[in-house]
Amino acid sequence: MKYHITTFGCQMNVHESEKLAGIMEKLGIVSCTKLEDADIIVFNTCAIREGAQNRAVGNIGSLKSLKKHYPQKIIAVCGCMTQQEQIAKKLYKMFPFVDIIFGTKNFDKFESYLIETIKNKNINSKKRIISISQEDNVVENLPIFRSSGKNFWVNIIYGCNNFCSYCIVPYVRGRERSRNKEDIINEIKQILNSTNEKVRITLLGQNVNSYGKDKYEDYGFAELLNEICEIDGNFELTFMTSHPKDITDKVIDAISHQNKIIKELHLPVQSGSDKILKAMNRKYTIKSYMEIINKLKKLIPNIRLTTDIIVGFPGETDEDFKKTCELIQNVNYSGIFAFMFSPREGTVAEKMENQVPYEIKNQRVNHLLNLEKEIQNNNSKK
Ligand code: SAH
Ligand code: SF4
Ligand code: F3S
Repeated sequence: MKYHITTFGCQMNVHESEKLAGIMEKLGIVSCTKLEDADIIVFNTCAIREGAQNRAVGNIGSLKSLKKHYPQKIIAVCGCMTQQEQIAKKLYKMFPFVDIIFGTKNFDKFESYLIETIKNKNINSKKRIISISQEDNVVENLPIFRSSGKNFWVNIIYGCNNFCSYCIVPYVRGRERSRNKEDIINEIKQILNSTNEKVRITLLGQNVNSYGKDKYEDYGFAELLNEICEIDGNFELTFMTSHPKDITDKVIDAISHQNKIIKELHLPVQSGSDKILKAMNRKYTIKSYMEIINKLKKLIPNIRLTTDIIVGFPGETDEDFKKTCELIQNVNYSGIFAFMFSPREGTVAEKMENQVPYEIKNQRVNHLLNLEKEIQNNNSKK
C-alpha cells in the first residue's frame, strides 16, 4: 500500500506528519508523491486563520469523485482544525467519503484507527471513525519518518498557556507540557548517531522559552540549550518560536556564546502599538521588546532577526499601524511574516468590537510587503 500526506500549517504540523508517516512506514506502507496514486490519503490540517481552514476544506472536497471511483481508498483528516470538536463533526457530515477524523491530542492512535479501517474495508463495512480526545498528553517513542533533509525537528514542549486574544492554538493544542530533558537529549544523540553529515537540529514549541516551567525548578530553556550544545557531534542548533515576554538573559547569553547555535532569532512582535499589544494580551510593551532587540544586537552584531505581524486587529487605527511600520524600520528585520487578522471561533478577539474591514487589512498587509522589500533592498545595497 502507498500513502500521501498533505500538511497545512506550522513546523509543529510538518513534524507531526513525519510521525504519521513513521506509523505508516512501520506498517510497511510506503510514501508516494502523487495523491491520486495513494491508498491512504491524509490531510493534516491547520486552524490558525480562516484561509488555512478553507484550503483544507477545498482540498478534501475535491476528492469526492476520486473516492467514488476508488472506494477502497482510505481518507483521513487530522490536525488542529479537527481538534475543534464542532468542526470535526461538521466535516464528518459534510464529507461522508472521509473514513477517519481525529485531532492533535490522539494522533498517536492513528495506527489503530488505520488498522481498524483496513479491516472494515476488507469486510465491506462502511464504518467510519471520528475520535477527538481532550486529554493533554506527551507520547514518547513514536516512530518518525523524517523528510526534511538535513534539518531534524525535535519537539521540546507541546501546547501553549498564553492565550493571546486572537489565537486558536491554546484551544487546539492544550496546556504547556515539556518533554523530559533526557528524552530530548537521547533523541538528538540518536539523530547524530544516524549520520556522518552535518545536520541542523530545530527545537520546536509554541513557546520554547517556557521549556521546563511545568516540570523542573531550576532547569529551563537556557539550561537545555547549553546541555544540547555540549553533545559531541557535527550539528548546528536553532529553535522556534520564542515569545518576547519570556526570553531571558540566560537564553540570549547562550545564543551569543554557544558556537553551535545559529545566530538568528524569530521574535514575533505582532504589533508596534502598546494599545494593540495590550488588547492582544501579549504582556510586553514596545519599550521592553526594543530592550531585548538592542541587547541581542549588542551581544550578537550579525544576528538575523525575523518577526510575525498581524494587521487589522480589532481597534487598530492608522496611527497604530504607523507605529508598526516605524518599529519594523527601527529593528531592520531580515524577514517579516505579515498576516491579516482572522477572527477565530471561541477566542476573545473574535467578539471584540471595532473589527477592521477587509479592504483596510488588505491595504495594510500590502504596505508591509512593500516596506519589507524596501528594507531588503537597502540591506543588500549595504
Ligand atoms: N507560537 C508561535 C506561533 C503562533 S502562530 C508564537 O507565539 O509566535 C504563527 C503566527 O500566526 C503568529 O505569530 C501570528 O502572527 C499569526 N496568527 C495567529 N493567530 C492569528 C489570527 N487569528 N489571525 C491572523 N494571524 C494570526
Ligand atoms: Fe498563539 Fe500566543 Fe500561544 Fe503563540 S504564544 S501559540 S500566538 S497563544
Ligand atoms: Fe496551525 Fe496548529 Fe500550527 S493551528 S499554525 S498547525 S499549531
